[in-house]
Amino acid sequence: MQQTWTHIPIMVSQIAELLLRNPDGVYMDGTLGLGGHTHYFLTRLGPQSKVLGFDKDEEALAMARERVNDTRLQTFHASYAQAPEILRTVGIEQIDGLLLDLGLSSYQLDNPERGFSLLQDGPLDMRFDLSATLTAADIVNTWPLQEIMRILTDYGEERQAEKIALAILAARKQTPIQTTQQLRQIVESVVPRYGKRHPATQTFQALRMACNSELETVAQALERLPGLLAVGARMAVLTFHSLEDRLVKNQFKTLASGGNFQLVNKHALTPDYEEVRQNHRARSAKLRVIERVK
Ligand SMILES: C[S@@+](CC[C@H](N)C(=O)[O-])C[C@H]1O[C@@H](n2cnc3c(N)ncnc32)[C@H](O)[C@@H]1O
Repeated sequence: MQQTWTHIPIMVSQIAELLLRNPDGVYMDGTLGLGGHTHYFLTRLGPQSKVLGFDKDEEALAMARERVNDTRLQTFHASYAQAPEILRTVGIEQIDGLLLDLGLSSYQLDNPERGFSLLQDGPLDMRFDLSATLTAADIVNTWPLQEIMRILTDYGEERQAEKIALAILAARKQTPIQTTQQLRQIVESVVPRYGKRHPATQTFQALRMACNSELETVAQALERLPGLLAVGARMAVLTFHSLEDRLVKNQFKTLASGGNFQLVNKHALTPDYEEVRQNHRARSAKLRVIERVK
């Protein structure tokens, strides 16, 4: 039986309300995923509109095309950070709005083959882009102690980084660490469980972020993508943890102080109680929106 993957788009009606200001405009969905936001946007947009959907994950792009099934969607297998060059090749210099919904989709998390989930056994992969060369297994099996400690601290905000990194190095001397469950057990062997969160949660997050250069890509995109916006167009960014949100908040502030951009909301917007009740993944979402005014 073929598995049907789902991903519920977060804050979708608020984002559509804030972003879609020109019914026949050209919009970019930098993180198309399974096409949840785009599908909704297209129900709100006119016949001449276009959505340019980017994703690093070719499997997700194929599913999104099938689900959205709309000729107004054009997809690109590329990083959103490369959008300025890529859009130029198809004759697009300016867009009417842009969304980045950061992190990973439920499809990626729930599919054990992709190696993102600490709850299910699978290869220790974690690449968004299956044509990229670096996997999470490469990191834990080949990177030096200091580097593993650095990513656990910087990306996982893991207080036990040294203990975990030492355990990873000891384990890989015995046998290569190839699966999610091997890594989970290594972390469990040195960090006791406190409360609800599994002790390997932050290690998995750190590896995913390192493997896909997530923070570096977000920082690059925040520098490059606002330049694509037409006057009056908006950029919305949905984040799921404080490290990303801080980058967005600071860069939007810098842009606003330059005079060409304005913050649409002073503070980050969050999903309402009902959405969080229905979709647990929404609980940590923060939305920030900026508008090009000059
Ligand atoms: C949270 S999901 C998006 C879900 C989508 N908004 C929906 O409603 O179905 C994030 C997606 O961004 C993709 N992604 C992560 N980093 C990317 C990058 N640098 N460029 C393009 N896509 C990226 C992931 O592969 C994933 O499919």
